[in-house]
Amino acid sequence: MKLSRRITSVPASATLAIASRSKEMQAAGIDVVDFGVGEPDFDTPEFIKAAAKAALDAGDTKYTARAKAKLLRAIVDKLARENGISVQPSQVLVTFGGKHALYAAFQALLDEGDKVLIPAPYWVSYPEQVKLAGGEPVFLPSPADRGFKISPKQVLAAAKGAKVLLINSPCNPTGVTYSPSELAAIAEAVLKTDLIVFSDEVYEKLVYGDTRFVSFATLDKRLPERTVTFNGLSKTFAMTGWRLGWAAGPKDLIAAMGNLMSHETSDTVSFAQAAALEAYTSPEAAETIEAMRCEFEVRGRHMAQRLNAIPGVHCVQPTGAFYCFPEVSGTYGRTLGSVKLNNSMSFAQAALELARVALVPGDAFGDDRCVRLSFATGIEQIDKGLDRLQEMLR
Ligand SMILES: Cc1ncc(COP(=O)(O)O)c(C=O)c1O
Repeated sequence: MKLSRRITSVPASATLAIASRSKEMQAAGIDVVDFGVGEPDFDTPEFIKAAAKAALDAGDTKYTARAKAKLLRAIVDKLARENGISVQPSQVLVTFGGKHALYAAFQALLDEGDKVLIPAPYWVSYPEQVKLAGGEPVFLPSPADRGFKISPKQVLAAAKGAKVLLINSPCNPTGVTYSPSELAAIAEAVLKTDLIVFSDEVYEKLVYGDTRFVSFATLDKRLPERTVTFNGLSKTFAMTGWRLGWAAGPKDLIAAMGNLMSHETSDTVSFAQAAALEAYTSPEAAETIEAMRCEFEVRGRHMAQRLNAIPGVHCVQPTGAFYCFPEVSGTYGRTLGSVKLNNSMSFAQAALELARVALVPGDAFGDDRCVRLSFATGIEQIDKGLDRLQEMLR
């Protein structure tokens, strides 16, 4: 069957080969330490699950007009209270995950050939979503030796003819968070251009040390009219499987995204919305989030320390999210067993076949010198996996 040009322009994920081989090995009973996962290992908190169960028992199983209104209000209140962003309910769209919100926004905003500036390394779905919307991804290099951050100069140099700048802080895959002053400098550059900013804030609650999270839209009073803020419940509340996210931004864009969604999926799941409402309004939420954040902080510090003790490996300390993105190019040129290390894929292959450690090649995120390890796993697993990697690279 001849598939559409649109879909054949999207390559199968490079990370898939490693992930499926890792699964194959695990199914065969091989003890693989899996650092590939991109989701919290914690279960969804009980008080959130209870709200979904209660909604089901109350017959909350229909299309969602009423529940939706309450949830929109809760998100509006959360944005005002926690982020300092002031919006009306008509400026919020609840979607099937943050991923879906981004997809809808690109579809609603981009015309054929429109350029989107994406700092690289980047989350795998951004370029593909841009291409699916007919747009053209333009990468702004932000390698490890620049702390995985773009500069205002880069924004200004690339802005001409570009429509959107993507900001993802804290970042997947680098684990890096921009400081408020660094973001303010980028905001200042943005204000000299016509760029619209997509600020992906799904990791907002997971920041470490003295790192402070700030929402991009709050950095100048002229920004709300040209910033779309993306967020969701997956990472904050360990709710990846519930598929709940949202976008908040200019009313006309949000309405267009809603129009698209009305023909595509209709609204999100009724009882999942009840759970989301509870997550955003329960007095138990803050303590639960903080407990998960503290655990991630300890793990991230430990993982980075251990990675930096391995010769040929250099890891920027993660200040957010739950990923380490070490540079491993210092090991390239070596031959381990039957594998010659010469790029991130061969490094990931060696790690899996020789050390039984699954990690993700950095190539998938636009940086072939690095690999990504998730620390959304227990400290014993982290030690076990890093013992194995250290032994492999001895
Ligand atoms: C940077 C980033 N943005 C958005 C998402 C989307 O998450 P979800 O669709 O589960 O809300 C992810 C998930 O891995 C992510 O890492």
